Amino acid sequence: MLNIAVLVSGGGTNLQALLDAQARGEIPEGKISVVVASKPGVFALERAEKAGVEALVVARKDYPDTGAFCDALREALQARGIGLVVLAGFLSILNGDFIRAYENKIINIHPSLIPSFCGKGFYGLKVHEEALERGVKVTGATVHFVNEGADEGPIILQKAVAIQEGDTPELLQKRVMEEAEWKLLPQAVALFCAGKLKVEGRRVHIV
Ligand code: GRF
Repeated sequence: MLNIAVLVSGGGTNLQALLDAQARGEIPEGKISVVVASKPGVFALERAEKAGVEALVVARKDYPDTGAFCDALREALQARGIGLVVLAGFLSILNGDFIRAYENKIINIHPSLIPSFCGKGFYGLKVHEEALERGVKVTGATVHFVNEGADEGPIILQKAVAIQEGDTPELLQKRVMEEAEWKLLPQAVALFCAGKLKVEGRRVHIV
């Protein structure tokens, strides 16, 4: 059984999708062992507690810099024998030391079809605002491994979502979550835990 840590900074609907998938037996080779929030009081912590999962706060503001914060995070994960780190709306920056310590073991979910609408500054509603502004007809979500570039790691799964007439950034964000994010993230986690993801350069093969 692979121990999974889910890192969050907010509401945690993607965390909820993972907890629900686990409860349905859809992640048989993994166990969500801990949920770590980068700030206290976020709703994701309540979701973890309700599901009987350890809820931990490693607050970015309690550390003088990114390095000290990432070291504390790494210690917390290593103490729990974590083999997969899932970023589910985690907004703090992870440094190179952290990323190298978990090379190809950190998964992120991004609310667009990478390489569109991604990179520095593209998070939250901004992603959907830019997609609507550009007039694309299709957007979606991407699950990818995290490397040191912003949204540049190997792509694991993607799912397309159609833009509809009358969409607002808020409506689109909700549809991308419901139709793509909440499905893709548990699928990718289950594949990883089953040892079915093989990384070769920038490509991920599902074996
Ligand atoms: C999602 O849109 C996800 O794609 C992005 O951050 C948001 C997190 O939302 N990385 P939630 O906290 O899971 O509801």
